[in-house]
Amino acid sequence: MKTEDLKALLADMSLQEKADQMMQLMGIFYSDDTEGILTGPASQLGVGEEDFWMAGSILGTYGAKQLMEIQKRYMERQPHHIPMLFMMDVIHGMKTIFPMPLAQGATFEPELSGKCASVAAKEAAVSGLHVTFSPMVDLVRDARWGRVMESTGEDPYLNGLFAKAQVEGFQGDDMSEPYKVCSCIKHFAAYGGAQAGRDYNTVELTEHTLRQFYLPSYKAGIDVGVGMVMTSFNTVNGIPASTNKWLMRDILRKEMGFDGVLISDFSAILETIAHGHSADEADAAKKALEAGVDIDMMTSVYAANLCKLVEDGVVSETLIDEGVMRILELKNKLGLFENPYKDADPEKEKTVILCDEHRALAREAAGKSFVLLKNEGLLPVDMSKKVAFVGPYTNCREIISSWAVTGDASSCVTIEEAAKEVFDLGRTTFHQGCQMLGNDYHLEGFGNLGESVPKEFSEEEQKEMLEAAVAAAKEADLVIMPIGEHFLQSGEATSRAMIDVPEIQMNLFREVAKVNENIVVVLFNGRPLDLREISKTAKAVLDVWFPGTEGGHAIVDALTGKVNPSGKLPMSFPYCVGQVPVHYNQYATGRPNPEGVEERFKSKYIDIPNEPLYPFGYGLSYTDFEISPVSLSGDVVKDGQPVKAVVTVKNAGKVEGTQVVQLYIQDVTASVVRPVKELKGFEKVTLCPGEEKQVEFVIDEPMLRFLKADGSVGSEEGKFRVWIGDNSSTKNEAVFTYEK
Ligand code: GLC
Repeated sequence: MKTEDLKALLADMSLQEKADQMMQLMGIFYSDDTEGILTGPASQLGVGEEDFWMAGSILGTYGAKQLMEIQKRYMERQPHHIPMLFMMDVIHGMKTIFPMPLAQGATFEPELSGKCASVAAKEAAVSGLHVTFSPMVDLVRDARWGRVMESTGEDPYLNGLFAKAQVEGFQGDDMSEPYKVCSCIKHFAAYGGAQAGRDYNTVELTEHTLRQFYLPSYKAGIDVGVGMVMTSFNTVNGIPASTNKWLMRDILRKEMGFDGVLISDFSAILETIAHGHSADEADAAKKALEAGVDIDMMTSVYAANLCKLVEDGVVSETLIDEGVMRILELKNKLGLFENPYKDADPEKEKTVILCDEHRALAREAAGKSFVLLKNEGLLPVDMSKKVAFVGPYTNCREIISSWAVTGDASSCVTIEEAAKEVFDLGRTTFHQGCQMLGNDYHLEGFGNLGESVPKEFSEEEQKEMLEAAVAAAKEADLVIMPIGEHFLQSGEATSRAMIDVPEIQMNLFREVAKVNENIVVVLFNGRPLDLREISKTAKAVLDVWFPGTEGGHAIVDALTGKVNPSGKLPMSFPYCVGQVPVHYNQYATGRPNPEGVEERFKSKYIDIPNEPLYPFGYGLSYTDFEISPVSLSGDVVKDGQPVKAVVTVKNAGKVEGTQVVQLYIQDVTASVVRPVKELKGFEKVTLCPGEEKQVEFVIDEPMLRFLKADGSVGSEEGKFRVWIGDNSSTKNEAVFTYEK
């Protein structure tokens, strides 16, 4: 539809019709078995039957047949036959589930993440969806916060690359094209900064920190044309994001140039009353509209109040027209006025979803996301040995994360199933060993917990399970222990004050260690965990996160050496929870406490080290890499005269492997303190045994720019340090200066 036709349509709409376009309700209210009957939660919404059938969008329902029926019924009733938008959390896969986002961050391969997003878009599109609430690009530093699993980590530069790649994967160049959907960057802004790692909690940041660390990843998505942004639940500068004019109009729209649809998070406008910022729903509607929020997710605050606010002269209808126009423009960008069903296709659903090609990509992505944290000669497994698999994830299908809300665990391949394809069953045993969680543990999850609640065994049964597993471990040459968090221990509303592997599993681990010292831990986790005991006792630790649909195959590929792990940590693993928040790009302080220096009055703990157990960018390989000292093409960077920093990487081991060569820079002295180091580049290099390759980074003036105290962005002359290595704690250093 042409813009002038959109304008004519807008002009012909009633005020209530426009207000209803700004309301989003749950799709379940419209499904055929509850058609139009405002029963249950819907009846609490405070919207009448008429408005109910004029909501501009729905969320949380998918399936080509169902959404086509809803669209048909909706458009017949909608006075101008405006199509409805269908939105869903397709976070890391639709039905083919890819590794959770933090695991995708560990690949240090944004392009791969883009491919995964593109496949997710295709499966979502044939299922009738138009918009996905993904990627979540919040910077994270606190492992207690359950939603770190949804981020790509603690570094602004890395997060920006993944944000860009995923938005482009979902949307392509033109979201009206087949198998593309609108992407939604979230949660604007700084949701990951929740105090004490407690979800929905207050965020207290200086504007400098907000801009320097948290905003760049949102900007990266906006710069490639993301169609939607979602507000965050938290306050920024004491004002809830969803009613924060400065954040939304001054920063998001004016400074960042975002002109797409701004949607609130789930009931976030209504929650500004609970925050103590809005007096009542009418006040919340007024403030959110003035902040420029276009869609009110899952409440009737807009639909039930905007008309009266206009009639009473409290808000201008112009603000509503702006919001509705952006919604109509998004529907138009998706081509819905021409084809309201877009790619919905029940037949294609059968052939596209979970097809072999998509499974193969899921297996590749999972294999590249695994991080080898420790290996004292046990991996890859010697297939002539007797192997005991012992742990609750040995034959568990729930390996797709709590945000794989459209995925089915039943589609997953378990470790045991995959192992039985390659291990000699005459020398291999499989035991669960213990429950996932103790019977005293209480889990809360989305909707039907049914199949997700771990099976509980009686004390006697648990005793027998343990004894059988320990006996098998005793007989084996090595024990592979798939253990870790339950998938509902991470994700939304799952903050944990203790970041440990569940105690019942640690008990199993200790019992096995008593009878066999050759333990390989395969770790399932949605967040960095306290791995002190596991790292000390196990001879090998492979972090597999929540690897997705093809997790079992990918894990066995890694255990047997078919895939050589190459993942690198996108988020620091703390020594213990007391060290949190911990991140590599910290400030030096006036009393830095360099490793190995014993001095009392330094910025340190008296009971633990400052350094994390495993640093950002860390990950081992089955081969050995050597990285030469840094060679600089010059000592001075000038405007327009960059310096090249070069290293030679050699595979000094016996098998092919991939190394992520990382470039870090420190601005030693500046008008505002600068992080002790910042990731400024990386390159993945795959080498055969004995092969070597030069890796070159160009250090130029734009790379040295930062946010200054006066809000400007620029570089300053002076001394810089540069490191090139295989993780953020590398000592491979050189020095240069920058002169204008
Ligand atoms: C949730 C989440 C958000 C999600 C939305 C819709 O509360 O915060 O990330 O997209 O609601 O499910």
